Amino acid sequence: MIKKNHVSVDDKIITDAGFHLNENQQVKIDETVLHYEEYIYIILNKPAGYITATNDNSSKTVMDLIDEKRSDLSIVGRLDKDTEGLLLITNNGKLNHNMLSPSKHVDKTYYVICENKLSDDDINRLCHGIDIGDDTPTLEAKCIRYEQGILLTIHEGRYHQIKRMMEAINNRVIYLKRLTFGPLKLDESIKTGSSRRLTNEEIGLIKKYM
Ligand code: URA
Repeated sequence: MIKKNHVSVDDKIITDAGFHLNENQQVKIDETVLHYEEYIYIILNKPAGYITATNDNSSKTVMDLIDEKRSDLSIVGRLDKDTEGLLLITNNGKLNHNMLSPSKHVDKTYYVICENKLSDDDINRLCHGIDIGDDTPTLEAKCIRYEQGILLTIHEGRYHQIKRMMEAINNRVIYLKRLTFGPLKLDESIKTGSSRRLTNEEIGLIKKYM
């Protein structure tokens, strides 16, 4: 944009990409004034087929799905390549750290469809903590039947946790979508593969992690 003479500083077109800006100067792209935003918060409805990484040599990443190209963005937690649903992307490192901290027990609700029908006993076992091969069993979880599957709310975020919980009851996940992350909900307006900025109201809901 600088090379094409679209950028001005204090109404003077600049041509040097190494131009140093000071805080009080006004930057415009053509006639649009740019405003510096310290923190940004993006909610993405991740489709299957994308990996949760900021860059990768061989796979499409979730960053390919968002318009923001800031280099300081990072993804809060991860979803497997074949998992869909709510992902939060931000440059607020403190929030990222706190929302993932095991001590904060941020709830996450997943819609899970399994290969085999779940019995009442299976649901009971998922709710009461289950051995998935770690040092300790999973924490208590909430589990209710929903459409063709279940809604499973966990209070921790271990590696491949939902898949391993299903394996522990001799079942297998065939569809997985995250619907909530702490106080944030994936609303129907965010189609699979699209994203938007968090609203001020949503930012208010996650303030306690900042
Ligand atoms: N649990 C899983 O097994 N996979 C995910 O992507 C998220 C939670």
